[in-house]
Amino acid sequence: MANQEDIFKKVISHAKEYGYVVQSSEIYDGLSAVYDYTQNGAELKKNIKEYWWKAMVQMHENIVGIDAAIFMHPTTWKASGHVDAFNDPLIDNKDSKKRYRADVLVEDYVAKIEAKIDKEVKKASKRFGESFDKTQFLTTNPRVLGYQEKAQNILKRLGRSLEAEDLVDVKNLIEELQIVCPISGSKNWTDVKQFNLMFGTKLGASAENATDLYLRPETAQGIFVNFLNVQKSGRLKIPFGIAQIGKAFRNEIVARQFIFRMREFEQMEMQFFIKPGTQIEWYEKWKELRMKWHLSLGMGEENYRFHDHEKLAHYADAASDIEFKFPFGFKELEGIHSRTDFDLGSHEKYSGKKLQYFDPELNQNYVPYVVETSIGVDRMFLAVLSNSLKEEELENGTNRTVLKIPAVLAPTKAAVLPLVKKDGLPEIAHKIIDDLKWDFNVIYDEKDAVGRRYRRQDAAGTPFCITVDHQTLEDETVTIRHRDTMEQKRIAIGAVNETIANEVAMKHWLKKTE
Ligand code: GAP
Repeated sequence: MANQEDIFKKVISHAKEYGYVVQSSEIYDGLSAVYDYTQNGAELKKNIKEYWWKAMVQMHENIVGIDAAIFMHPTTWKASGHVDAFNDPLIDNKDSKKRYRADVLVEDYVAKIEAKIDKEVKKASKRFGESFDKTQFLTTNPRVLGYQEKAQNILKRLGRSLEAEDLVDVKNLIEELQIVCPISGSKNWTDVKQFNLMFGTKLGASAENATDLYLRPETAQGIFVNFLNVQKSGRLKIPFGIAQIGKAFRNEIVARQFIFRMREFEQMEMQFFIKPGTQIEWYEKWKELRMKWHLSLGMGEENYRFHDHEKLAHYADAASDIEFKFPFGFKELEGIHSRTDFDLGSHEKYSGKKLQYFDPELNQNYVPYVVETSIGVDRMFLAVLSNSLKEEELENGTNRTVLKIPAVLAPTKAAVLPLVKKDGLPEIAHKIIDDLKWDFNVIYDEKDAVGRRYRRQDAAGTPFCITVDHQTLEDETVTIRHRDTMEQKRIAIGAVNETIANEVAMKHWLKKTE
């Protein structure tokens, strides 16, 4: 595969060809930044959610899960700050008439500086060979230090201006950096303006009596407004967490990069309620736990990094992203935020209801502080899909396309293939499926030569192929082929279930998160 753009294009076309993701309403030419998950995509998405839910809810005695409505009372969004502060700074290019997020233009500029640092590292590593010390190089090479300082200064200034809502300075920064429109190539920019990202809708039978509502832009508020319901009915003691998976909606200005930035997407969020003053300790703990969850999937430690925020959201006193190396570079995959008592305190004010916890140890009431972990299901999906897609050159000089999805998340765990469509082999294959289907999602495939079927399953991401051949008729054994190594072994039909379970069972993978 060639450059990053080509790799990304390949991921998108593979997602369509192998039943993962397509554009929504494609027959009507699609809807911008809205996508549908097809048969394999729906399975992968479900497995990602289950892996998160089990790690978060089932593995923690003090975390419970809820499922709140998408529609919420409109005052929720006033209290949460979204009506006043959930804005993106946007800027238009007067020549191309294209609209951009001003902060994204600056961040893309910084990403180019970071790419220059990567290039220097690659060059030096080639030059010095085995003796190359990357850490030393990054901390001493004058050119790299210069790039780093430049990038940091730009991000600091952007953070300061956005925090102070100084949109004039954001525009000045774009002009000083001589950022051009990627379409027209011109620097002919409008002023920077704020744009609220919430989608509005109406509730009610007639236009006169309708109430203005918003589609929720985050699932977190459904947790905050239910804080006391859950705490009291579950007799929960601080520290405890409430988790939720659900849809969220944002009218994103920059709707590009496939399912990375969507207008309708899904979040997996957990609000951890704690004693005021303990937030930094819990914030660090959750950063560590969430990174462990990611690393348990074995998608390469080098593909993750933390990015601590300079610019904090209106509710946070500390925030960090777990960034993942997508085909278009390191970008936010998950956010960990110390949200203080902002949300509960504000809902108390707007609702006039007390949202306090009685701490039996301190014998006192207080509004708990909150540390939140928030990850987009779709972004996690893209991380898995893009990281798994490999083009391999085989020893015999041929190529294969393989989707090395972590086996625990793979949509189909095994394909059962009769070598030929006769001699009773299909019947045995169906019997094997009847046994496996209770535990795993498995499929039957008898079309084409077996080699082509293997390739098809490799490309679809199926970890195992079970082939029924004439020897099966004699000794009740089958071959089991491993997607990643392509190794084939002969095993008894009775051992197939356990062999698959050993690699795909969630339990084995979740143990790595401990
Ligand atoms: N409750 C906090 C919150 O919503 P956020 O950083 O705005 O924080 C959390 O979003 C996560 O949701 C992000 O890290 C990302 O994975 C996902 N996300 C946010 N906007 C998204 C979008 N437009 N499309 C897909 N995923 C998105």
